[in-house]
Amino acid sequence: MSTGVMGPGRARIPAKTLRQDRWWLTPLATFVVFSAFVVYATWRAFAGADYYSAPYLSPLYSPCLTDDCVAGSSDFGQPFSWWQLSPALLILIFPLGFRMTCYYYRKAYYRAFWLSPPACAVAEPHGKYTGETRLPLILQNIHRYFWYAAIVVSLILSYDVVLAFRDEHEDWGHMGLGTVIMLINIVLIWLYTLSCHSCRHTVGGRLRHFSKHPIRYRVWTLVSRLNLNHARYAWYSLFSVALTDFYIYLLATGAFDDPRFF
Ligand code: FES
Repeated sequence: MSTGVMGPGRARIPAKTLRQDRWWLTPLATFVVFSAFVVYATWRAFAGADYYSAPYLSPLYSPCLTDDCVAGSSDFGQPFSWWQLSPALLILIFPLGFRMTCYYYRKAYYRAFWLSPPACAVAEPHGKYTGETRLPLILQNIHRYFWYAAIVVSLILSYDVVLAFRDEHEDWGHMGLGTVIMLINIVLIWLYTLSCHSCRHTVGGRLRHFSKHPIRYRVWTLVSRLNLNHARYAWYSLFSVALTDFYIYLLATGAFDDPRFF
C-alpha cells in the first residue's frame, strides 16, 4: 500500500501546494545556517589547535582528555592518552548526538534537508514514508540517553565558566570579555538542555497523580514553560557555542586581545 503523499487517506491535489506564503523561507534558512555550522564545526573540530587561551577553553574541546591537550586546558587528566586525533573528536559525539536526535532539530532538518515534508501542507517528493520505525531513524529514540550525557557536558562547561573567573596566571577574582561570552553561552546551553522534551518527561512523566508528587509537578511546570521556547534555545545555543569557540580561537591565534574588566 502506498504511503506518504500517495497514501489512501491523502487528498488528490495535482499542485505541490496551495500555499501562497513564502513557506520555503524557513527550510531554506535552516539549510543555510545548519550547513554553515557543520562546515565551521568540522573545521574547528579537526584543527586540534587554537582552542585554549588561558583561562578560556573552547566548548568544542571541553573536557580535553588526551595527551595532546594544550598545557592548562585539561583538569580531568588524560584518560585517553592513546587517542591520536584531535581531542574534540573524542567528546563531540555527545553534544552532536544530543542535537542530532533532538525533537526540534529533527523536524528542522527533515524539512530542510530531506524535504520530508518541506513545510506544512506542502507535498514531499518521496513516495514512501516509514517515519522513525526502522533503521537508521529508529536510533533517534536514544535521545533520552544523549540527554543524560548532555547534563554531564553542561556541568563540565559550567565548571569551565567558573575557571574563567581567573586571569592568565590562574589568580582568582578576574573577569574579561571572554568570561562574559562563556557565561552567556552556558546560560543558553542550560536553557536548551533543560527545555528538552526528554527532560520534561523525565521530571513529570509516568505519574498517575501530580497531586501526590508536588515537587515533581512544580519542576515539570517550570520545564514545560521552558519547553515552549525550546526551538529558540536550540538556535541561540548553537550560535553561542560557535561564537564562543571563535572568540577563543581569535585569542589563541593572537588576532585579538581579551579586554579585561578587573
Ligand atoms: S528535544 Fe531538543 S534537546 Fe531534547
